[in-house]
Amino acid sequence: MKVAVVYESRTGNTATAAELIGAAAQELGHEVGVWPTGKANVEFLTDADVVFLGTWTDGIIVAGHRPGDAGRLLEMPGIWGKPTAGFVTYAVHAGKVVDKVGDVVTLLGGEWLGGRAFRRDKLPEGIAGFVVAALDEAEARISTS
Ligand SMILES: Cc1cc2nc3c(=O)[nH]c(=O)nc-3n(C[C@H](O)[C@H](O)[C@H](O)COP(=O)(O)O)c2cc1C
Repeated sequence: MKVAVVYESRTGNTATAAELIGAAAQELGHEVGVWPTGKANVEFLTDADVVFLGTWTDGIIVAGHRPGDAGRLLEMPGIWGKPTAGFVTYAVHAGKVVDKVGDVVTLLGGEWLGGRAFRRDKLPEGIAGFVVAALDEAEARISTS
């Protein structure tokens, strides 16, 4: 499959997670592109079979968790109708931020595959399994659509 990984990152943690997700997908034999939202290759994205959309956790640590720079995510082109998985990085507590990334994906017209939060000091823990599960689910949805 053609896999696009698009993210927002201020201090590099989500960029690292995005690169790790891209590398895991590539290792599984997929064609992969990884970009920050503002630099996404629209041609690749238009052709992509599946998208990973990621950002950082914004909040006041114990409450108010929301996807960081959600406005930029919402300006992203090209995921209409595409199976899309979410990922976020966080410091100590991410709350329900993954569900809110799901809301963003739905607003963008993507088909929400679910997502996962990754603690910034524990990367790459969990990345490989997350990528396998998301791509399996995407493949299942594509084959029945
Ligand atoms: C304004 C601001 C608010 C944050 N709020 C939270 C929070 O509520 N919970 C949390 O676990 N981390 C919080 N963080 C930490 C970031 O989500 C975390 O460091 C993340 O990995 C940053 O990703 P980046 O390096 O891609 O920018 C916050 C960071 C910033 C700058």
